[in-house]
This record gives sequence, C-alpha cells and structure tokens, in this order.
Amino acid sequence: MNVLDSELVVGSLRRQGYELTHEVADADVIFFNTCSVRQHAEDKIYSALGRLRGHKKRHPEKVVGVLGCMAQKDQGLILKRAPHVDIVCGTGQLARLPELIGAVRDTGKPQTALSLDRTEGRHEVERSFESYDPLRDPSMRPNRFQAYVRINIGCDKFCTYCIVPSVRGPEQSRHPEVIAAEVRQLAAEGCKEVILLGQTVNSYKYDMGDGRRMRLSDLLARIHDTAGIERIKFVTNFPKDMTDDLLEAVRDLPKVCRYLHVPVQSACDEILKRMKRQYTAGFYREMLHRCREMVPGVAISSDFIVGFCGETEASFEKSAALVREAGFKNSFIFKYSPRPGTKGHELYADDVPEEVKKRRNNDLLAIQTKMSLADHIRLVGERVEVLIEGPSKNGLKQSATGPIQLTGRTRTDHIVVFDGNERLAGQTVMVDVQEASAFTLYGNIVTGDQVGALFCGPELSAGSQRIGLPLL
Ligand code: 5AD
Ligand code: SF4
Repeated sequence: MNVLDSELVVGSLRRQGYELTHEVADADVIFFNTCSVRQHAEDKIYSALGRLRGHKKRHPEKVVGVLGCMAQKDQGLILKRAPHVDIVCGTGQLARLPELIGAVRDTGKPQTALSLDRTEGRHEVERSFESYDPLRDPSMRPNRFQAYVRINIGCDKFCTYCIVPSVRGPEQSRHPEVIAAEVRQLAAEGCKEVILLGQTVNSYKYDMGDGRRMRLSDLLARIHDTAGIERIKFVTNFPKDMTDDLLEAVRDLPKVCRYLHVPVQSACDEILKRMKRQYTAGFYREMLHRCREMVPGVAISSDFIVGFCGETEASFEKSAALVREAGFKNSFIFKYSPRPGTKGHELYADDVPEEVKKRRNNDLLAIQTKMSLADHIRLVGERVEVLIEGPSKNGLKQSATGPIQLTGRTRTDHIVVFDGNERLAGQTVMVDVQEASAFTLYGNIVTGDQVGALFCGPELSAGSQRIGLPLL
C-alpha cells in the first residue's frame, strides 16, 4: 500500500514540474512515507529525521515532510521530536501535498493535514480518509508491465495488535467502474499484470444502488476481459472472507492467478481470541482445505506474529505445527510489537521476553524455510510460465551486451531466475525449472521452437493460455 502511495505522490509532484533526485542532499523537497505496523519502522524514521537536522539547518528553504501512517498516528509529536519537519500528512490527505508545500513556502510555518480520529462520526471520518488515486504515471513504477490498483482502503476488523484501522481509517471500497477504468488505462500503457490491493482485499463490497452488491468475485469477472491484461493477483486476504464465490472466480477466470496470501497470525485458539481474529485454528485449516480442493494447484502464503501477549510455548507449538502441515509457499513472520492506541496494548501485558520472541521467530522461520524448499523442489522438472520483471540483483551487475540473469514470477508467485536478453523484460515466457532453493527457482528459458510445440500440447491449461514468444 505504501509503495503505491509513494508512486502516486511522486507522480502528482512530477505533474507539478518536480523531478526525482538520486541524492537526498540534492532535493528541494524531502518526503518520508512511513509505516506504523511495528515500532522498528518508526524508530528508523525518527533516526533518519535526526540525521537530516543539520542539512535542514544549513538549507532552511528545503521542505521536509513526514507522510503516511506514522504521520497520522504521531501527529504533533513528530514536530516536537523533529522540529525541523515542515509537513505532517496522513494517509488520507496525500492529495493535498502540492498545496501544503506551497503553504510552507508562503508562510514559513509547519503544515499538518490529518484525517479524523475514529471516535468521530463514521461518515465524517470516512470523508476525511479519501482514497488517493490520481492519474497514474507509468514511469514511477519499478516496471511498466506490473501495477498495483487499490480497490478498498482502510480496515474495520480491529485485530487487537494492529494500528491499521486507526491510521488508514474505515473500510471503504472504490466503485467497480472506477477500478475497471484504471485497469483499462494501465493496460493501454502496456501493463500486463495488475495486483489489486486492500488491507482485507476480499472484504471488497460495493453497493451499486440498484439492488446489486459487487463482491471481489464480481469485480474480478468485471475486469477480467480487459484487453492486454494477462494476470490479475490480489492481496491481502482475511480468512473469514475467503468465500466460495471468490474461490470459484479464482478457479474459473484464467487470468486470475492461483496465488492466495491469507495471514493466519497464530494457530492457537486462545491467542486468536485475544487477537480478535474472529476465527479458530480449525476454521483456518478448513478454509485452507477448501482453497486447495476448489482451486487445484493454488499456492498459499501466510503471516504469523510470534510472542503476542500470553503466548506460551504450547501456543507457539500450535503455530509451528500449522507451518509443518499447511504447505505454505512462504510465510512472513513478525515479533509482536505493542502499538499504543490499539486494544491489545491497552488490555494485555507484553509479557513474552524479547529473547523468547527472537527464538520463536527464528524457529518458525527455520521450519517455514524447510517447507518452502520442499514446495520449490516440487517444481523442479516442470515447465512454468514466467512474466519477466527485469535483471535479477546479479543481472544488474553484469554487462548488458550478452545474456544476463533475469528474474520474474510464475502465476503462483514463485520467483524464477534464468539467463536471457535484457530486452525480454515484460515478456511472458516459459522456463524449464532445473534447480530450487527455499526462495527461488532456477531454470532455462524455453526457445521459440519448444514454445511452438507447447502450444499443441495437451498440458496447455487454462492458466497458460497466453504465452508470448520470447525474443531470443
Ligand atoms: N506487531 C507485529 N506484527 C504485526 N503485524 C501487524 N501488527 C503487528 C504488530 N503490532 C503483522 C501482521 C500483518 C502484517 C502486515 O504485519 O502479521 O499481517
Ligand atoms: Fe490489521 Fe487485522 Fe485489519 Fe489486517 S485485518 S489490517 S491485521 S486490523
């Protein structure tokens, strides 16, 4: 979500005549787009602001801004801790940035733009968190052929550990026709893959006013036939909202990728209850089973928090057991970080010592890494469809005259690395997988002749109906 916000902010400033600089020291306006999910992310911003203090003193005409979730959460505290900051702008007010820069220059005074606190009336709070989706600028994305598209903002789940509902506001879905138009525009600019975004993307619902209520499954069907779009992914899912109509859409719409990120957070019922996740470990297991039954070949990934208040060795073991059995492609694992302003912080003591959190984090990661390796090894010997994103990290260091190492992803979000010409970026190609690590598949690109043969093959499934001939 923050990557998309940054893309949109930079795009809107470019339309005002700004350019991106490589060096912070060269910039006239310096913005930090911030995250509040864990304390560590905030600490990094405050130290970066500290390092900027001398620079701002020497160049008082420069404008320094703190944007996003930490701005919304800490508000005036930012100006107290870092008085050289000129702009504090929350997630719901980013559209006002050009005006705020002007006001700082005109008045020489700090400017603050924040959304209302969630204790105010729902309607007013919703209006103060406007979806920020101005015109897109393809040059602002890491590559032209993949783009995020926001479909809903905010969150109403109020998991007790999570700051997101306060800093990103109430859940609000965008009009399906506005989303469809944005996807069409992206396709016209050469975009092949859209990643639909929402904190709980599968809670998407839009009341059309004529008795129809659009769900995520309906939206997927609505945008599916956009010419030029080859792949549609969506993140992140809430387990309770993984309904059959959505799984049917993933199964039946060939452009919708068979990849689901569905965070579980813990597999211990007492902890899930304290987290207010609204489901049990049994429900989650049943949901996983349903996903695999209804969508053959689906890849599933998850998130875990270790060391939440009251987590015992026995509760942690339940999460470890789930990782051993669930077959997740990968999991993102976090140590619990208490967030002032959340129910968890108010109600429960942060009673798991830091060393224990660290050990559980490492242990769970080690188990997941083993499982990810098994998941990746399964694909060795297979031929997979890859959308090439560009040179890999190694490829960036190689000379661009001959073949270099490229990277891309399969429809199931597996990362694949192989040699090829840099010009192939943005192409969809077939790769024969030869080796695997826990995080990456390694293979050889299939040549033109082999791809031709593949078109005739019986194995050509709904999921691989659009294969671009690689330009070798
Ligand atoms: N501490 C640690 N991890 C958290 N997450 C959300 N809030 C916290 C917190 N207070 C994790 C969850 C979520 C991911 C984006 O961040 O696992 O899915
Ligand atoms: Fe946070 Fe829970 Fe909402 Fe996800 S569903 S953003 S964890 S409150």
